[in-house]
Amino acid sequence: MVIKPRVFSLAQICLTALLGLSFTSQSILAGEYPALAPLPAKKTPAASKVEMGKRLFFDARISGDGAISCATCHDPNMGFGDGRVLSEAYPGTDYFRNSPSLINTQYKADFTDTGWGWEGRLGSSLNDVVRDQLTETTIMNMDMRIMHERAKQDPVYVEMCEANFGGECSSGKMRKALVAFIETLVSNKTPFDSGTMSRAAKSGQKLFEGKAGCIQCHNGPYLSDGKPHNTGVPENLDIFKDPVRHLTYRSVLHTYGVPNMAAWRRDVGYFMVSRDYKDVGKFVTPTLRELKYTAPYMHNGTLASLEEVIDYYNEGGGHDDVMPNELAPLGLSQRDKKNLLAFLEALSADVPLAMEKMEIPQDYDPTPDWLETKN
Ligand code: HEC
Ligand code: HEC
Repeated sequence: MVIKPRVFSLAQICLTALLGLSFTSQSILAGEYPALAPLPAKKTPAASKVEMGKRLFFDARISGDGAISCATCHDPNMGFGDGRVLSEAYPGTDYFRNSPSLINTQYKADFTDTGWGWEGRLGSSLNDVVRDQLTETTIMNMDMRIMHERAKQDPVYVEMCEANFGGECSSGKMRKALVAFIETLVSNKTPFDSGTMSRAAKSGQKLFEGKAGCIQCHNGPYLSDGKPHNTGVPENLDIFKDPVRHLTYRSVLHTYGVPNMAAWRRDVGYFMVSRDYKDVGKFVTPTLRELKYTAPYMHNGTLASLEEVIDYYNEGGGHDDVMPNELAPLGLSQRDKKNLLAFLEALSADVPLAMEKMEIPQDYDPTPDWLETKN
C-alpha cells in the first residue's frame, strides 16, 4: 500500500491557525472536554462501620508511638487538611508536601489514571492508601501486627470488630473501617452541584470553560482529568533549607528507588512514578471542591489564597527552569478574575463539612511496664 503524503494548502493552514486562536479566546472549549457536572452518588457505608472508622481516625494509638492520629494532618475543622504550608510528619520528621483534603478523595478511583498523593504515587485503591499512610515511617509509622494487638486490648474495638466483621480485630478490618469513614467525606451539594450559583459564578464558569482554559485539565464531575501536568509551581525551598524536611524527602526518594536520589534539588513529581524524565515536576490535576476551606494551595502550599491562584494562572503559571510549563498568560480583566473566583467559591458548600473531634481515652500504654523496668 502506498501512503500518500497529506499536503496542506496555505489556506488550510491559515484557517487552522485562526481556529486555534479562537479556541483559546472564546468559550467553546467546553465541548472538547468531559463536561463539568455534579458528582455521581455512591453507596453509603453501614453506619456502625463508619463509627468504628471515625474512632480509629481520631485515635493516636494507631500511630507507632501513640502521638498522632489521622486527624492531626487531616483535621475535620480545616477541610480535612491541616492548614499548614507543608505538613508535619511522624514525630522526629517533617513532611515535604501540603496535606491534601480527604473530602471526595474516594472519587480518585473513578476519575484518575494514577494513584493518590499529589503526584499519584500512593496505592491503587483507597484501602491501599490507608495502609500506606499507616505503615509509612514518615506518616504513622505503624506496624500492622502492633495495630492488631492494640485493638485487641481495647474492649470498644473488640466489640466493634465483632459487630461489624465478626470475629476478632485484625488490621485488615481496621483499614476497612477507616475506608468506610473516609467514604462519608463527600461534597456534592455545593451551589454548583445544586444549580444555585450567583450570576458572577455563572460568568466565572464560562471563563473556566473558555478564555481561562481551566477545563483543559480540570474537567468532568471530579474537576480533574486525573493526569499529571506541569504548571510550573515554584519549588518550596523550605524543603531544602530545613534539614529535617530535606532528610524526609530524601528518604522517600530512596524508598521509591528514584534514580540519582541524592542529586535532586526539587520535588520530582510524577517522575517518582514513571521514571520518565519528561515527567519531572508534573503533578496530578487536583479536584476543586471545598477549596474555600483548604488553603494554602498546590502540592507544596506555595499559594496562600484563591486570589493568588487566579493571579498565578493569569500570568501563565510559574517558571520551571528546565521543564516546559503547559500554561500561557490569560489576559483576564479584574472583573474576569472576580467572576472566576466566584465560580471557584461556588464549588464549596456554604457551610464546611466539619465535625467535632472525638476524644478517645488513651488507656493503653504503648510502653509496657516490663520494658520500662528493663531500661
Ligand atoms: C503527619 C501527617 C499525616 C498523617 C498523620 C496522615 N496523613 Fe494522610 N496525607 C498526608 C500528606 C502530606 C499527604 C500527601 C502525600 C503526598 O503527596 O506525598 C496525605 C495523603 C493522604 C491520602 C491521599 C489523598 C489524595 O487525595 O491524594 C489519604 C487517603 C490519606 N492521606 C489518608 C490518611 C489516613 C487514613 C491517615 C491515618 C491512618 C492519614 N492519612 C494520616 C499527611 C498525613
Ligand atoms: C495544564 C493543566 C491545568 C490547567 C490548564 C489548569 N490547572 Fe489548575 N492545577 C493543575 C495541576 C497539575 C495542579 C496541581 C499543581 C501542583 O500542586 O503543583 C493544579 C492546581 C490547582 C489549584 C489548587 C488546588 C489545591 O487543592 O491546592 C487550583 C485552585 C486550580 N488549579 C485552579 C485552576 C484554575 C482556576 C484554572 C484556570 C485558570 C486552572 N487551574 C488551570 C492543572 C491545571
